[in-house]
Amino acid sequence: MRTGHSTMRISQLLLLSMLTCAFLPPSSPDPKDESCLTHLFESFSDPNQNLHNWTKPTFSNPCSDLTFNLAGVTCNNGRVYKLSLQNLNLRGPISPFISNCTNLQSLDLSNNSLGGPIPDDLQFLVNLAVLNLSSNRLAGPIPPAIAMCSYLNVIDLHDNTLTGQIPPQLGSLVRLSVFDVSNNKLSGPVPGNLGNRTGNLPRFNASSFAGNKDLYGYPLGPMRNRGLSVVAIVAIGLGSGLLSLVLSFTVVCVWLRSTERKRAAEHEGKVPHVMPDY
Ligand SMILES: *[C@@H]1O[C@H](CO)[C@@H](O)[C@H](O)[C@H]1NC(C)=O
Ligand SMILES: *[C@@H]1O[C@H](CO)[C@@H](O)[C@H](O)[C@H]1NC(C)=O
Ligand SMILES: *[C@@H]1O[C@H](CO)[C@@H](O)[C@H](O)[C@H]1NC(C)=O
Ligand SMILES: *[C@@H]1O[C@H](CO)[C@@H](O)[C@H](O)[C@H]1NC(C)=O
Ligand SMILES: *[C@@H]1O[C@H](CO)[C@@H](O)[C@H](O)[C@H]1NC(C)=O
Ligand SMILES: *[C@@H]1O[C@H](CO)[C@@H](O)[C@H](O)[C@H]1NC(C)=O
Repeated sequence: MRTGHSTMRISQLLLLSMLTCAFLPPSSPDPKDESCLTHLFESFSDPNQNLHNWTKPTFSNPCSDLTFNLAGVTCNNGRVYKLSLQNLNLRGPISPFISNCTNLQSLDLSNNSLGGPIPDDLQFLVNLAVLNLSSNRLAGPIPPAIAMCSYLNVIDLHDNTLTGQIPPQLGSLVRLSVFDVSNNKLSGPVPGNLGNRTGNLPRFNASSFAGNKDLYGYPLGPMRNRGLSVVAIVAIGLGSGLLSLVLSFTVVCVWLRSTERKRAAEHEGKVPHVMPDY
């Protein structure tokens, strides 16, 4: 009776431990993912509280349970591999610590109100295939270093306020199938290897580059605004030349007249000086 009871206990314990093992997460939490999510959460401001279930304790193990999930975070093999935080009215900058989510394959922060620069540190996301930062208020240049993310398939940066040139390095991304930088404030030439087809790489038509008034070169038109400004410079040059000619002429005239008057006054002045003799 006593031995039977204990064997039953032992078998129960065994069964329990087997069950726990089966439902345990496959790998231990990753400190890099924790750093990534903590810093992102701190840099975003979230007026609509769309990230209400992003709480400090969950960051230490964001991929802990098969049923638990943080808004917009998808895990694979115990690591964060997808961040889908589009249309959430998020504000603030993108923390450079996003690069600590080293297994990230897809980053979609589109259609928010994010500002500041695109962090250079994205270059450390070596598995990144999808980058969608469209429809925000991101400013500054497109970091040439993102060409280090050699798996990039999609770069969608349309509708921001990005400035500077399109880095020619991006043309070396052989997997790139979507590229959209339309409606920014970019300038300079469209890199030949993004606008033109070389070998069997698909390249991008004018709709990828439209809405940047100082961008030029195939598939857009030639330097249209530059042509106009050359005319403007010539006009300004001629105009200012003419103006300075007229001005110096006037100055000389005024000077001549005033010296003439002075002389006349001196001449007349001698007369009253002599007068007292009368
Ligand atoms: C967190 O929020 C997202 C969307 O708001 C929801 O899909 C998810 O189930 C929530 N997770 C938990 C644990 O409440
Ligand atoms: C952008 O997000 C807003 C909500 O913040 C939504 O109403 C709108 O439809 C979204 N636009 C697109 C193109 O998804
Ligand atoms: C996390 O990201 C920051 C910013 O890029 C970097 O300085 C730091 O070394 C990273 N930490 C780890 C553990 O990767
Ligand atoms: C990027 O996000 C925007 C807005 O959420 C969406 O309309 C667009 O299709 C996305 N781009 C790609 C290439 O999926
Ligand atoms: C791209 O192709 C267009 C038309 O085929 C050509 O005029 C232009 O010079 C080419 N640009 C470069 C950089 O190869
Ligand atoms: C440009 O290419 C896209 C696909 O990459 C296509 O949907 C669009 O119709 C093209 N536009 C023009 C004007 O050819």
